[in-house]
Amino acid sequence: MLSWDEEITPAAKPAPVPQPALQQVSAPTAQTPLPPLASLARAPAANGDVAIDPTLVTKPPEADPARRMNAADKRIINGSTDVNQLVPFKYKWAWDKYLAGCANHWMPQEINMQRDIELWKNPNGLTEDERRLVKRNLGFFVTADSLAANNIVLGTYRHITAPECRQYLLRQAFEEAIHTHAYQYITESLGLDEAEIFNAYHEVKSIRDKDEFLIPFIDVLTDPHFTTGTTINDQKLLKSLIVYSCLMEGLFFYVGFTQILALGRQNKMMGAAEQYQYILRDESMHCNFGIDLVNTIKMENPHLWTPEFRDEIKALFFSAVELEYRYAEDTMPRGVLGLNAPMFKGYLRFIANRRAQQIGLDPMFAQEENPFPWMSEMIDLKKERNFFETRVIEYQTGGALNWE
Ligand SMILES: [Fe+2]
Ligand SMILES: [Fe+2]
Repeated sequence: MLSWDEEITPAAKPAPVPQPALQQVSAPTAQTPLPPLASLARAPAANGDVAIDPTLVTKPPEADPARRMNAADKRIINGSTDVNQLVPFKYKWAWDKYLAGCANHWMPQEINMQRDIELWKNPNGLTEDERRLVKRNLGFFVTADSLAANNIVLGTYRHITAPECRQYLLRQAFEEAIHTHAYQYITESLGLDEAEIFNAYHEVKSIRDKDEFLIPFIDVLTDPHFTTGTTINDQKLLKSLIVYSCLMEGLFFYVGFTQILALGRQNKMMGAAEQYQYILRDESMHCNFGIDLVNTIKMENPHLWTPEFRDEIKALFFSAVELEYRYAEDTMPRGVLGLNAPMFKGYLRFIANRRAQQIGLDPMFAQEENPFPWMSEMIDLKKERNFFETRVIEYQTGGALNWE
């Protein structure tokens, strides 16, 4: 049986098939600059260089000022303008979020996990309930961000016709890869059973139920036969975007984020908590981008926002709150870290009300107070020093993080 630590032996390579020698193409140098594109097709074979087959060179279209893109013609879905032309901008909010995402760039291995490792290995370092919480927490997140990345790359991206929004989605997809990397890095650093953690989404009911709720809304967009352009399909896309931004990134992540950040507030698992803090910052931008996308699609296509459609969305909100509450109960069967599942009932209702209002629906629950105001502080505050006062001295940077 294959063990997780075992090296996988590559299959024996087939014997190489003899290939005819390729004619060498000399690289351009400062002395021999690359000829302009238009002249390539006519370039004679000289200096022993291979001649370029003119049929392989794509000719630029004939100049036609009437073909120039007008920003006003851009649409988020079902647009007919050229998706390869980023400018002129129409959706500046999407471009601004792309720039902000780049400015927030970080990598997991920049965060020191030594103290976390010592705490985890110390038999008295954490209680059994705290250990369960960490493992169930990672059990959800190690696959959640792969779902998110696949949803963007294989689904959402191709249905969005505004290049500014595509530009943000490309950045977001990379951030999802960084998040998966972070959860893997924490799992590996602590020496957890990788098979247990990465299979939790099959094997732990409270996690599987959340994923089974989400996956149909991803599958609809990744189906190669799905296209937008009809009311019913445009509503399917809109519903998927709402589920993904408001309920996955905007609700399903919040029990987990609160738990690990609560550990960090008690000086436990500080390296993990610091990474979750950066992830929370990224995810709140993903959520806000998704909400802007939804609201712009609504504005451009008001016929999609029917009373029946709104009722369907409300039902999904109620289901999501229930699923996330069950996850809170499963990860915290008893009170831990000053948290308990009933506190999350109020918190999830508070968040759901806020998400509903952000997309133009009425609040769904009686006025709920936020039991964790410190979470808002973590999301909203633009600090120069990170919340846990560890080593990073610049909270937001233009490139790499700076160290003391
Ligand atoms: Fe993520
Ligand atoms: Fe995300």
